[in-house]
Amino acid sequence: MPIRQRLLVLISLVLLISLIGGGALTYWQSVRRIALEMSAAITVGKTAMTDAIAALAPSRDIQNQIARIVASFDGDRHLRARLVSPDGAMQQMSRVRAPADPAPDWLNRALGDQREIVSFELPPEAAHLGRLQIETDTLNEVSEVWDDIRLKFIIIASFCSLVLASVYATLGRALRPLEDLSAGFARVADGDYEAHVAESGPAELANIYRQFNKMAEKLAEAELQNVRLNDQLSTVQEEERAEIARDLHDEIGPFLFAVDVDAQTIAPLLSRGQTDHVIARSNAIRQSVGHMQTHLKAILGRLRPTTLLDLGLTHAVDQLLAFWRARMPEVTFELDMAEDGFGDRIDAVTFRIFQEGTSNAVRHGKPSRVALSARRTDHGTVRIAVSDDGVGFEKSGQRGFGLAGMRERVANLGGTLVLTPSTLGSGVSIIAEFPLEPKSIGPQSPSDTRAGLP
Ligand SMILES: Nc1ncnc2c1ncn2[C@@H]1O[C@H](COP(=O)(O)OP(=O)(O)OP(=O)(O)O)[C@@H](O)[C@H]1O
Ligand SMILES: [Mg+2]
Repeated sequence: MPIRQRLLVLISLVLLISLIGGGALTYWQSVRRIALEMSAAITVGKTAMTDAIAALAPSRDIQNQIARIVASFDGDRHLRARLVSPDGAMQQMSRVRAPADPAPDWLNRALGDQREIVSFELPPEAAHLGRLQIETDTLNEVSEVWDDIRLKFIIIASFCSLVLASVYATLGRALRPLEDLSAGFARVADGDYEAHVAESGPAELANIYRQFNKMAEKLAEAELQNVRLNDQLSTVQEEERAEIARDLHDEIGPFLFAVDVDAQTIAPLLSRGQTDHVIARSNAIRQSVGHMQTHLKAILGRLRPTTLLDLGLTHAVDQLLAFWRARMPEVTFELDMAEDGFGDRIDAVTFRIFQEGTSNAVRHGKPSRVALSARRTDHGTVRIAVSDDGVGFEKSGQRGFGLAGMRERVANLGGTLVLTPSTLGSGVSIIAEFPLEPKSIGPQSPSDTRAGLP
């Protein structure tokens, strides 16, 4: 239910409860008021009747005198007098003044059940006529109460309508900006940070609208900054590429040309037997290659991002094992590595073998132990092994990229990679061995420079 309706229902309930309470109080007061009025009227009536009976003159027209007593009550608002014969039959009765605006029957029924009758004996000379009575009549008093109630009801009803109407109008005005705010949030959610709401209404809401506008402005600023940064980044990348292209062109190009020229002269020089010149040319070629290597190193240094391996192989492998220990606490991971690295290229491949070998062992072998080792051998090689005590290698197993990738990397270093039954009993051992001084220097794949965790 909308907040406005909720509040209106709540206020109406409170007013209704107050109305019921007020009604009960009014009823109680009215009953007391009628009882008091009737009691006062009967007291006055008793005195009047007693005095009139005492004043009766014992003459022949005593019946006439009694009729006048009864008639003297005609037009009274609260009392009715009557003459009742000895056998109980009504002989004469006064008329109560009819109320100008009689109350409805239900109210008369609710309040008017307070009838009191008082009888007066007549003197002996008139006793044969019966007795006189006065009786209270609440019609006029109830009609007065009815007048009061009606007035109060009109006042209360006007008050309630006024309260409800003003609450409705005030809430409508106060909550209208909330609808704007909701529309504003929808626009922001769609990425339109130009959304703004009017900072009007009650102080608390105005504050929220102000904060919303600030938030939208900040988001717009952040987006603008993002666009600018992206532009800058693209420009920087473009500039970086252009610079590398320039460097390659200016630094490597001339030397390649020089190497080409020098190499072309070697054959004619040899045919002419000018061995000294050949030696000079080959020295020149070596010099050019040396220059190129230096420049290439500088360019690669700029291209190579900071990696895990920059902090050493041990650190990178420790991170790798910490990664797996945290995820597979039931598996024991062991590391046997005496040295912190064997050179950048071997370290990168070693790390990749450890990474993929551990991942394979955990993924396919369901082992309880995984042992990693990297050791220098007596015959000038590095021996890398990842062994597990898992279920072992399945010939029909899927062919993935992991093993193939490892083989390629090891081959690039002039080494070999074999899968053998594990040294830990069951399971698989992946053993790679490559020379400390790589025989073949293949191109290092870009992923080697990004030694991220699995
Ligand atoms: N330690 C091991 N224990 C049991 N089986 C293994 C183990 N290592 C590899 N295998 C088997 O050799 C298959 C090939 O492994 P490989 O790493 O090449 O691919 P993969 O792990 O399935 O996928 P991905 O290319 O994503 O690494 C595996 O699917 C698995 O069946
Ligand atoms: Mg794999």
